[in-house]
Amino acid sequence: MKILHIVGARPNFPKLAPVYRAARAVGVSQVVVHTGQHYDDAMSDAFFRDLGIHAPDINLGVGSATHAIQTARIMERIEPVLLDERPDWVVVYGDVNSTAAAALVAVKIGQRVAHVEAGVRSHDRSMPEEINRIVVDRLADLLLTPSRTADATLRAEGEPEGEIVFVGNVMVDALLYAVERARLTGFRHRVGAEAGRAVVVTLHRPSNVDDPARLARIVDALRSLAEGRPVIFPVHPRTRARLDAARLDVGAVRLLPPVGYLDMLDLVDAAAVLVTDSGGLQVESAALGVPCLTMRDTTEWPETIDCGANRLVPEPAALGAAVAAARRLAHPARPEGWDGMAAVRVVESLRSR
Ligand code: UD1
Repeated sequence: MKILHIVGARPNFPKLAPVYRAARAVGVSQVVVHTGQHYDDAMSDAFFRDLGIHAPDINLGVGSATHAIQTARIMERIEPVLLDERPDWVVVYGDVNSTAAAALVAVKIGQRVAHVEAGVRSHDRSMPEEINRIVVDRLADLLLTPSRTADATLRAEGEPEGEIVFVGNVMVDALLYAVERARLTGFRHRVGAEAGRAVVVTLHRPSNVDDPARLARIVDALRSLAEGRPVIFPVHPRTRARLDAARLDVGAVRLLPPVGYLDMLDLVDAAAVLVTDSGGLQVESAALGVPCLTMRDTTEWPETIDCGANRLVPEPAALGAAVAAARRLAHPARPEGWDGMAAVRVVESLRSR
């Protein structure tokens, strides 16, 4: 069997790594195609090094552009690769533009598509990721889900029962594999997060950072927090551009360049509280037992709320009280299938078809 993996943006890489390892362990032939949606070392290559997977076999070099141009470039450049490689399965991950673009091309040339992280929904169609998820799940032949909620969502949307396979959460596989190495990086000490008091922040969603008025209110809230405790904020390039343009005073908030996978894991593990709008970090903090405050109206990971690890705090003015009230979980949250074996089930499922 030959599988061709498509990845493109930072959150894809930790999902690829465990599936790649599980497939290699059983002798499956594999090709990794990177679309080049993310291209900075800190957003891309650093992750391949940290995750211990070799560099992509093919990089399409699409880079940044509007949604339409980026999606179109990926489609145009991936088609000849798929025609040339003729894989038994095209495996796509998560919800980024690369995921949707590749799935659309593959199904139209008659290649089978498996979607890792199928059925995840925020029910907020203003998020580009939500559109990508819906499109990919309609098109894919095999829907590999991370949770029972996702199974139920796909059934309710009319997906055939035979296409839905519950495998669990591959992000948790990656985390369990790497967490001890992450703790050895010493990153928490280098950035002053060692006392278990730090608030770690990541924000990059257009809904938070593209509106200068909202961004200013968020920065106000973070600046107040930083008067009492360390606030450490690795900044996504999109957010950095918006912060620079708005010339906001961040006070004692410690801004860092984007950090790699292991450093970020160490930072979250060391945090008293995580403040984020990321999807993946909601899962990772829950799996580590670190309380998460999600600065959004909706989440695609309701199980992190159900287990008490996560809370939605869309209003910046409410952040201070929410941080003060947040408590570390006595035990990390491990919903069904968040057990380190999801990638093995992904590969079993691909092989059995
Ligand atoms: C993308 C994903 C989002 C994911 C995020 C993680 C989509 C629709 N969105 O959003 O789901 O949570 O990745 O990072 O696919 N840039 C760089 N260097 C890079 C990459 C991007 O400087 O290596 C800058 C560019 O200015 C670019 C901007 O970041 O225009 C946005 O990049 P893009 O890939 O369009 O979307 P993200 O916001 O990163």
